[in-house]
Amino acid sequence: MKRITDMEPRISRRRLLGGVATLAVAGGMGWYAAGRGVFDDRRGAPFAPWTALRGERGRGLIELVRAAVLAASPHNTQPWLFELHEDRIDVFSDPSRSLGDMDPFGREMHIGLGCAIENLALAAGSMGWTPRVELGAGRLPLFEAQPSRGAGSAAAPPIRVATVRLEPGGAESPLARAIAERHTNRGPYGAQRVPAAALRELSSLNEDRASLEVVWLERPDQRELFAAHTLRATEIIARDASMIEDSDAWFRLTPEAVRTHRDGLTYDVMGLGPLLTTAVKLLPRPSPERMHDDWLRVTRDVHLAGDPITGVIVARDRYDLGATLRAGRLWQRMQLWATARGIAMQPLSQVPEVIDRERQLGRAPAMERSFADALRLGDWQPTMAFRLGHAVRAGVPGLRRAAEDVIRAS
Ligand SMILES: Cc1cc2nc3c(=O)[nH]c(=O)nc-3n(C[C@H](O)[C@H](O)[C@H](O)COP(=O)(O)O)c2cc1C
Repeated sequence: MKRITDMEPRISRRRLLGGVATLAVAGGMGWYAAGRGVFDDRRGAPFAPWTALRGERGRGLIELVRAAVLAASPHNTQPWLFELHEDRIDVFSDPSRSLGDMDPFGREMHIGLGCAIENLALAAGSMGWTPRVELGAGRLPLFEAQPSRGAGSAAAPPIRVATVRLEPGGAESPLARAIAERHTNRGPYGAQRVPAAALRELSSLNEDRASLEVVWLERPDQRELFAAHTLRATEIIARDASMIEDSDAWFRLTPEAVRTHRDGLTYDVMGLGPLLTTAVKLLPRPSPERMHDDWLRVTRDVHLAGDPITGVIVARDRYDLGATLRAGRLWQRMQLWATARGIAMQPLSQVPEVIDRERQLGRAPAMERSFADALRLGDWQPTMAFRLGHAVRAGVPGLRRAAEDVIRAS
């Protein structure tokens, strides 16, 4: 029979080895999890622009660019460049930041540019200037270019789309205070509906009634038709290899991609909630097909679940440059107004995207006709579709390049 003292060291050794193994696995998992960005806390340089904006007088024109870079843009492409002059800022599109076949005419790109122009103009008011915004005219440059796959290649030079002249004076807008608080919210929204009075106020932010209109889908039958078309459009996109490839190019799913690019979409902004966000970060990167299948599921089960109030910004001509930039200014203003009142918003752009794609490929405009007939839009053309509501979880800041990175030498 073995004495207790003989056994002791062996048990201890086994325990010790077990402990070491557990630590090694936990340490390895921790290292792996850290490498996948599980512990990233949305601080660091790619998020610094959200706290860099002071909006005080006397900080120079770069402060206006700090406001502009916090604007919304499709897939967070940040397709902007700014040229600073003594009394004006010229705003350029950066065609190398095109979404390719997801946005073949650059329509969404120019909505994003309009969003940046709006932030810039609002911040100018707070900082003691009266902004005079001059927008480019004509048709969208990429529309004129008869795009094919890869339109907006890196070789295409920046194009000036607007000039914001700055004169002394300035009236502060309460909307300017929401610039650094606004985030697209892709999570679930609660059952409480945004009251009709708020929808009317949002519509009243539209200063260009001749070329733009906000259509609200308040009745259940209208919302159902909107949801059916959005799901159908999502399916079409998820089966279009070229669209999903161009979309996928803007996903930043590793800490390294986040650090290097400071643009595009991360797991954190997808509104999945803390547990699911951690889980997806630990999994290997999904294929573009898998990613877009999941997007279809989330569109159905989260974005359109609970029958949210939806809306559409419609244009007389959705390929008119000025109207598209103004649609962007309106969209940004609506989000800022909503942010100040605790209302969440999320674009659901699939229908307008499929309409562009049909036109690019020379197909019959099936989606355009069906959507316009179903929602009785007449001659108005959808350019920005979205939902709004009271979010269950707060939206989170996305990646941003610094103002200094988007200033062009004049
Ligand atoms: C023209 C345009 C289209 C967009 N379409 C979608 C969309 O279909 N789905 C979505 O979740 N977000 C959409 N967005 C939101 C952007 O992805 C978002 O603005 C960007 O990632 C930056 O994040 P932020 O708005 O939280 O700052 C769109 C934004 C713009 C300007």
